[in-house]
Amino acid sequence: MTTASTTSTPTSTPSASVAPLLSIAGLVRRFGGLTAVNGLSLSLADGELVSVIGPNGAGKTTLFNLITGLDTPDVGSVAFAGQDVTGFAAERLAGLGLARTFQHGRVFGNLSVLDNVLVGAHTRLRAVRPPLGLPLLGPLAELGLALLPPAAVRAEEERLRAEATEIIALFGDRLTPRLDKPAHSLSYANRRRVEIARALALKPRLLLLDEPTAGMNPTETAEMLEIIRGLKGRGLTILLIEHKLDLVMQLSDRVVVMDHGARIAEGLPSAVATDPAVIEAYLGHKAVGAANQDDAAAVVPTKRGIGE
Ligand SMILES: Nc1ncnc2c1ncn2[C@@H]1O[C@H](COP(=O)(O)OP(=O)(O)OP(=O)(O)O)[C@@H](O)[C@H]1O
Ligand SMILES: [Mg+2]
Repeated sequence: MTTASTTSTPTSTPSASVAPLLSIAGLVRRFGGLTAVNGLSLSLADGELVSVIGPNGAGKTTLFNLITGLDTPDVGSVAFAGQDVTGFAAERLAGLGLARTFQHGRVFGNLSVLDNVLVGAHTRLRAVRPPLGLPLLGPLAELGLALLPPAAVRAEEERLRAEATEIIALFGDRLTPRLDKPAHSLSYANRRRVEIARALALKPRLLLLDEPTAGMNPTETAEMLEIIRGLKGRGLTILLIEHKLDLVMQLSDRVVVMDHGARIAEGLPSAVATDPAVIEAYLGHKAVGAANQDDAAAVVPTKRGIGE
C-alpha cells in the first residue's frame, strides 16, 4: 500500500504563468474518524482538461462535492475565477459558471429530455438575476405573467429552447428523436447524456464530470470520449473523474492521482501511468472496484503501468 507522501513532481504546469480558473488549497473533509479528503491542493487553468483518478473510496467524489458547494470543507479553500468561493451554495456557484454531473446520474424522471435540459438554462438565469427582474411583484403577479407572458418572456423562452435543442444535438441521434420523452423512459446511457446536456445548458466555465461513462458499453464510451474531446476543443475547462483509464490517457492534459484522500501523483498521463506510487496504489487495492471490473483489467493485472 502506498502512502500519501509519495507525491511526484508535476511534469506539466500549463497554469504556471496565468491565474488559474480553479484553485483549491489544503482541502480537508472528515466523516467521523475517516478523512475522505486529506489536504488536497489543485489548480486548473482555463481550457485545461484534468482527470482525477484513484481507487474506490479515494475521495474523488467528495472532492467534487467540496468544489461544487454540495459539501463544505473542514479546512482549506476553493477559489474560482479569482474569487474565494469556499462555502458558497451550489446554485450560487452555478451562476458563476460551475456545473457538474453526478456519479450515479441525476435527472428529473418525469420531465422530458428537453425540459431536463431547460432546467439547466433556467438555473443559470435564476442564479444570475431575480425572476423576470421583478422581485417585488409577488406570486399573484408572477401567476399573471405565467398565464399571459409578455413578448419578451416568450422570446427568451424560445431562445432557451433553441439553445437546449442545439446542446442536445451534440449527442447525435441519441437524444434528439426523444426530446419529448420523459427521462425515466430513457436508457441508462441516455440519462447520463441528458445530465451532461443539462450541465452544458448552464453555459459553464468549468464542467466537472463524475464518471460520465459509468455503465456504458465500449461503443457508448467511445462516443462519450469524442463528445468530451469536442467540448475541450471548444475551450471548455473540464475536471474529469473516470475509471476508464484508456479514456483518461487520451483526453487529459494532466492527471491527478488520489489515494486515501490525498494526491499521490500528478503529471502528464504518460508519466503518471508509469509512476510506481500509482501502480502500487492500484495493486494495493487489487482492483478499482467491483463496479469497474471491466476497466480494472486494463490497469491492474500488469505491472507495466496504467493504460497499457
Ligand atoms: N457522506 C458521507 N458520510 C460518511 N462517509 C462518506 C460520505 N461520503 C463519502 N464517504 C466516505 O469517504 C470516502 C471517499 O468516498 P468518495 O465517494 O469520495 O470516494 P471515490 O473516490 O469517489 O470512490 P468511487 O471511485 O468508488 O466513486 C469513502 O470511504 C466513503 O465511504
Ligand atoms: Mg466517486
